[in-house]
Amino acid sequence: MQHPLIYLDNGATSWPKPASVGAAMVDFLNHKGGNPGRGGHYLAREAVAVVEAARRKLAELINACEEKRVVLTHGCTDSVNMAIHGVVRAFHRDHGGLDKPCPRPHIITTTIEHNAVLRTLHCYGSNGQVDLDVVPCDSDGLVSPDAVAARVRPDTLLFAISHSSNVLGTIQPVKEIVARLREVAPDILVLVDAAQTIGHIAIDVQELDIDLLSIAGHKALKGPTGTGALYIGPRAFPEVAENARIYCERRGGTGAVAPGLEMPNVLPDALEAGTPNAVGFAGLLAAIQEFSDLNHARQAHEHEMQLTQQIIEGLQQVPGVTLYGRMSTENRTPVVLFNLEGWHPREVSAKLDADFGICTRGGVHCAPLLHQTIGTAPNGGVRVSPSSANTPAEIDTFLAAIHQLSAQSRTETQESGNLSKTV
Ligand code: ALA
Repeated sequence: MQHPLIYLDNGATSWPKPASVGAAMVDFLNHKGGNPGRGGHYLAREAVAVVEAARRKLAELINACEEKRVVLTHGCTDSVNMAIHGVVRAFHRDHGGLDKPCPRPHIITTTIEHNAVLRTLHCYGSNGQVDLDVVPCDSDGLVSPDAVAARVRPDTLLFAISHSSNVLGTIQPVKEIVARLREVAPDILVLVDAAQTIGHIAIDVQELDIDLLSIAGHKALKGPTGTGALYIGPRAFPEVAENARIYCERRGGTGAVAPGLEMPNVLPDALEAGTPNAVGFAGLLAAIQEFSDLNHARQAHEHEMQLTQQIIEGLQQVPGVTLYGRMSTENRTPVVLFNLEGWHPREVSAKLDADFGICTRGGVHCAPLLHQTIGTAPNGGVRVSPSSANTPAEIDTFLAAIHQLSAQSRTETQESGNLSKTV
């Protein structure tokens, strides 16, 4: 490679992972690689210990009231699917099923959502099985608590929101939104998609008073891809399992509760059919252990936000750059979106990659309604998302590259202007 690689695409997935992550995965494969819960031998027991330690660490990280409320999944989209399909199907099950006339529940979401939420809801909204209400955000990507509360109806079943936009980095005031919601609808289920926040900011599911939290293992937590979790609170899955408001159609072996043809009705088994990605959770466990030093985590976050500030201020100086969202680092994850006049965002990203060895993401970012709101549809924008592994010098290199592209575009515009005058 011509240039040292500069990775600024941590919104997609974090890189590099801590050395301990790969080491734990290799150790798992070589020394602990049994099937967790399926067998009582040494390697199976070692695998159980790893997977359950990962569950415990995740539960501690989000302050879940019980470890069993953390269901391990194959990623955040898997978790969101489990949550949305689960809530809608439990409602249909309890109201006569799809074959008979069934009331249509009301679900509220927002325009900031990623397709994980939007497409999963759309499959019910588009055929009339749920009444979908989409609350707009403002141009900073912020959703107003009052605007959400105003949409609540007596039949509202679920409110689903991304904790932070993967496009703009705006962190939503989830605590205020949920408090307003609970004033008007105490029993409504609230799903928070923490794909872009977990690992960046502290999340306390009890303090937020939410029912479902989808977690990505491979983003800011710095674990491997193919790992995730869904927190399920007591309002969604009470101790009396018959009253569970989440229902999973996935069937299969769960290891712990083997006899009988019905799925066990206890957490996490009710929702965990099939062998988990145990080697992935070995890596995720190692990654979360890096977070145990809270001081270190706080410093890492401060560093990321300083880099974000440097990117915002630097891009503001580049002729032809348009920045989107907030111009500050307040209530924000380390994500910045911009466009360069005369360039398609995918061209900018491709040029940064090919000529400078800089990895960013250009184009649309799986959040179509937000791109419409901020005026970046249909092309999208260039997203820069640093991590604590980046340095201010790397950001300077990135900014110098954007200055070069900007100058190139202005020269080309002048040349084509001169040409058109002579023709
Ligand atoms: N959802 C990921 C992103 O925002 C892939 O890039």
